[in-house]
Amino acid sequence: MKWLIFFVASLGLGLASSSYDHYRLPTAIRPQKYHLSILTHLDGPKALTFSGTVKILLEILENTNNITLHSKGLTIDESQTILTELNGEEKQDICVSSTEVNPTHDYYILNTCQELVLENYYELTLSFSAEVNRKLVGYYRSSYPDPEANETRWITMTQFEPASARLAFPCFDEPSYKASFLVTLGHHQKYTSLSNMPVKESQPHELILNYVWTEFQESVPMSTYLVAYSINDFYYKPSILPNGVHFRTWARPNAIDQCDYAAEFGPKVLQYYEELFGIRFPLPKIDQIAMPDFESGAMENWGLVTYRETNLLYSNSSSSLDAKELVASVVAHELAHQWFGNLVTMKWWTDLWLNEGFATYLATMSVHHINPEGGIKERQSVGDIWETFRQDSLETSNPISRPIQMASQIVQSFNVISYKKGSSVIRMMHLFLGDEAFRAGLKTYLEMFEYSNAEQDNLWETLTQAAHESGALPRNFSVKTIMDTWTLQTGYPVVNVIRNYAEGNAELTQERYLRNSEVPRSKYKSCWWVPLSYTTQSELDFNNMSPRDWLECSKEGLSQPKKIENLPRADQWVILNTQVATPCKINYDAQNWKLLINTLTTGRYESIHLINRAQLINDVLSFAWTGDQDYETALKVVAYLPRERELLPWKAAFSNIRLINRIVRRTAQGGLLKRYIKKLLPPIYHYVNGINDTFAYIQHQDGIALKISIVSMACQYQVEDCIPRALNYFREWRTEPNPDKNNPVPVNLRSIVYCTAIRHGLDEDWEFLWTRYKRSNEADEKVDMLNSLGCTRAVWLLRRMLDLSFDPKSAIRRQDSMTSFNAVADNEIGFQLAKQYFMHNVELIYKFYQPTVRSMLRLLTPLSTQIIDPKEFREFEDFVSRARPWLKGIEETVQQTLEKMRITVQWKERNYAKFNSAIRKFL
Ligand code: BES
Ligand code: ZN
Repeated sequence: MKWLIFFVASLGLGLASSSYDHYRLPTAIRPQKYHLSILTHLDGPKALTFSGTVKILLEILENTNNITLHSKGLTIDESQTILTELNGEEKQDICVSSTEVNPTHDYYILNTCQELVLENYYELTLSFSAEVNRKLVGYYRSSYPDPEANETRWITMTQFEPASARLAFPCFDEPSYKASFLVTLGHHQKYTSLSNMPVKESQPHELILNYVWTEFQESVPMSTYLVAYSINDFYYKPSILPNGVHFRTWARPNAIDQCDYAAEFGPKVLQYYEELFGIRFPLPKIDQIAMPDFESGAMENWGLVTYRETNLLYSNSSSSLDAKELVASVVAHELAHQWFGNLVTMKWWTDLWLNEGFATYLATMSVHHINPEGGIKERQSVGDIWETFRQDSLETSNPISRPIQMASQIVQSFNVISYKKGSSVIRMMHLFLGDEAFRAGLKTYLEMFEYSNAEQDNLWETLTQAAHESGALPRNFSVKTIMDTWTLQTGYPVVNVIRNYAEGNAELTQERYLRNSEVPRSKYKSCWWVPLSYTTQSELDFNNMSPRDWLECSKEGLSQPKKIENLPRADQWVILNTQVATPCKINYDAQNWKLLINTLTTGRYESIHLINRAQLINDVLSFAWTGDQDYETALKVVAYLPRERELLPWKAAFSNIRLINRIVRRTAQGGLLKRYIKKLLPPIYHYVNGINDTFAYIQHQDGIALKISIVSMACQYQVEDCIPRALNYFREWRTEPNPDKNNPVPVNLRSIVYCTAIRHGLDEDWEFLWTRYKRSNEADEKVDMLNSLGCTRAVWLLRRMLDLSFDPKSAIRRQDSMTSFNAVADNEIGFQLAKQYFMHNVELIYKFYQPTVRSMLRLLTPLSTQIIDPKEFREFEDFVSRARPWLKGIEETVQQTLEKMRITVQWKERNYAKFNSAIRKFL
C-alpha cells in the first residue's frame, strides 16, 4: 500500500521542526545505491525547472525510527513518498508517521511507523521539484549568446561540492556516505545530456513529445559531492587514449576551436597519473566541459570535470602563454583529484587538504613532467610557499587540518592553507622521504582506501611504513610525529642561525613567525620538526635537499635548540634550507648576511641557487617589515638585482615592493619608491628587450614570464619607453577598421598594453575597450580586458564599473563580478571608491552572491592591503560590527582582513620613516 499524505509540502513551510540538531547525520543508516532521475525543462511553459525522483537503497546499521537525510530548497511531493522493506524477494511498504525539517543543518527527517531494523534493507523513494537556479550551485542554469540566431541559449549544470547536492536531490550529503549512482536524465531530444558515466541507453519519454530519457551506466561507489549532470547543446573534441578511455572536451559551439590544447593535454596527464600511482583510471570515459558561468575555477566531478572557460579554453591566435600554462595546471589539478579525492576521499572536511593539497602538488609535478623546460616546478613551488608565508603569519590563520562544524566553515576551508600550505608540506615530505618511499607510501594509501575514506593518520601510517622499509627515515622517526607539527598547528617557524665563527659551529633556534610585530613571539610555544638541509660557500651543494639533521621537539612539544658543527671559516657564508625544501624562514646573524650580500653584489651571485636567491630576498624584506632586520640591510640584499637575469628573485622583490607601494603611493613620499624602481629596472628592461615583441625568440615559459613581469613593472613605474610604446600599440589597434577581428597588439603584452592605455587614455579609449569586451568570444581575453578597464583614473568610469559589477543585467557575468570589483579596488584612485561602495552596499552585495559566500570573500583581498591610517581602520572595524548579518559565513576571513589591515597601519606608523630614509641611500 502506498503511503499518502494529501498535501504537497515545501520545506521550511508548515512542517514540524526537528529535535535532531547535530551538524552530522546520524549513523544508523547507510545509503548504498541511488536511482536518480531528473526531468529538465529548458524551454516551453515550464522553462528552467526540473522535477525528479530518487530511489535510495538503505542499509540499516542500528535500529532506528527515522530516516534523516539532507534536502534544501526542494519541494518534496510527500504524496509520492514510498518506503519499502526489502526482504529477499518480498517487499513490504512501511508507513511514515510524520516528517520534520531542520533548516539549520538542511535535514529532512521521515519518522517511520515501525522500527527499521539492523541488517535489513529498505528502499526510500522521494519525488521533488525546483527551479534550475541562477546561483551557480546545486542544479543551476547557464547561458551563452548565439550570434547567428541572435538568441540566448540555456544549458544546465551541477556544482555540488562541498554541500550542494542536497539542493538538487534529497541525499546523505556527507563525503563518507559513498554509494553508487544510476542517473537517468529526461530532456528535449535536441539536447545532449552528460553525467559521470557513459550513456547506457536512451528512449522516448512516455508522455512528453520529443523528450527522451537518457539512462547512464551505474557508477562506482562515490561521494554525493562528486555527482554531476548537465543538459546542453555543446560540441566536443574527442581525444584518443591508449588504454581505451574515451576522453572528450566540450564547449559551446562557438568556442569549440579553443578546445584543442585541453584535448591534447588532458589525456597526457591522465596517463601520467596512471603510471605514477600504478592505478588505472576506473571509469570508461571522462568528459571535461567549459562552462560559461561557473562559481569557482574548476570542479573534479568523477568522469565529468567542469571548468570556468578561462581554465579550459585556449586560443592559438589570441591567448597568452600564461593562459596556456593555466589551462595545463588546472586540468592537471582536477585530474589529480580523480585519485586524490574521488577514489580516496577525506572522511570529513577536516582533512580537506588531503584533496586540495595533493591536487595542488601533483598538478605542479605533472605539468613539470610533461613540459620540463617551462620552469613551472620552481615557480609554482616557491609561489605556493610565499603565499603560505603571507597568510600563515597571521595570528588569525588556521591549521591545515581543523575541526569543521558548519557548512560555512567548510567553504572557508578552501583557502590558501588547504591548497598552498598543504602542497608545500607535501613537497617537504617528498623531499625528506625521497622519491621511492614517497611513491610507495602513496600507492599503498590509494590501494588501501580506494572507494572509501581516509584521514591524515592513515596517510602517515603508509608513508612511515614505506620510509622504514626503504630506510628513508630512521626506525625511531615516524611521519606522524614530524607532520603533525605542520598540519595540526597554525603558523610556521623562523629558524634563527647564530654562528660561532671561532668554533665553526652554529646554534639554531626556532619560533613562530608572526607579521604583527606587536605580538610577542614568546606568546606561542609552538614547535615544528624542521628537516635541516644546508650548504656552504665552498660546498655549493644546493641540489642536496635531504636533511643533514633535524630541529626536534620534546615530548611536551617544546623546541630544542640545535648545534650544527663543522661549518666553514669566518669568511664563508652558510645557507640553510636548500631550495627552500621546508616552508620556513631563515634569519642569520649580521656577519652571515654580510657575506651573502658580498657574494650577491660583487661575487658569483649565480653560485647561490636561484630559489635560494629568491628566498633570501623574500625573507629579508619580510624581516625588515617586521623589524627583525633593518631596511638598509634588506635593500643591500636587493641591490644586486640589476645583475639578476632570472624571474624568481625579481618576483620576490616585486611582490614585497608592491605591498609597500600600496601604502606609500597615497603619501607625500610616494615618489621615492618610484625613483628607486626607475633606477633598479633599466638593465633588466634592456636585457628582455623592453616592450618589443620578441616573444617568438624566447624559448621557455620562464623567459616569457620574466619579460612580462619586467615590462609590467616598467609601464607601472614609467621606466624608459614603456608607456609611449604601449600607447602606440593600443593606437594601432584603435585605428584598425575591424578591431574585433584584427588586433596588432602582441598577445603576451595585451594585458599590460590595455591597462597602460586605459590608465593614460581618454574616455573614448575606455569605451573602445568596453565594446571589445562585450563582443569578445574568448574568456581569457575578456578577463584581461575587464582588469584593464579598472586601470582608468576617471572616477566616473570607476564608479560605473562598480555598478556594472553587481548589476545582474549588465554584460559582466556574476562569476566575473569579483574580477571587475577587484580591478577597481586595486587602482590607487579606485580603492577609496571601491571601499566606500563595499561598505555602503554590503547588503546588496551579500544578496547578489547568496548563497555562494566564497565569491564575496574575494572582494576583501584588495581592501586588506590598502587601509593605511588608524582612522580608516577604525572606520572599517566599525563597519564590520555593524554589518555582521551581511558578512555571515565569512567571519574568519573578515577577521583575517582586519588583522592584515592592522598590520598595514602598523607598518606605516613604525616603518614609513625608516623605509624612506633607507631608500634614499640607494637613489
Ligand atoms: N574541488 C575544487 C572545487 C571547489 C572549490 C569546490 C571550492 C567547492 C568549493 C577544485 O578542485 C578546485 O580546487 N578548484 C580551484 C581551482 C584549482 C585549479 C586550483 C578553484 O576553484 O579555486
Ligand atoms: Zn581542487
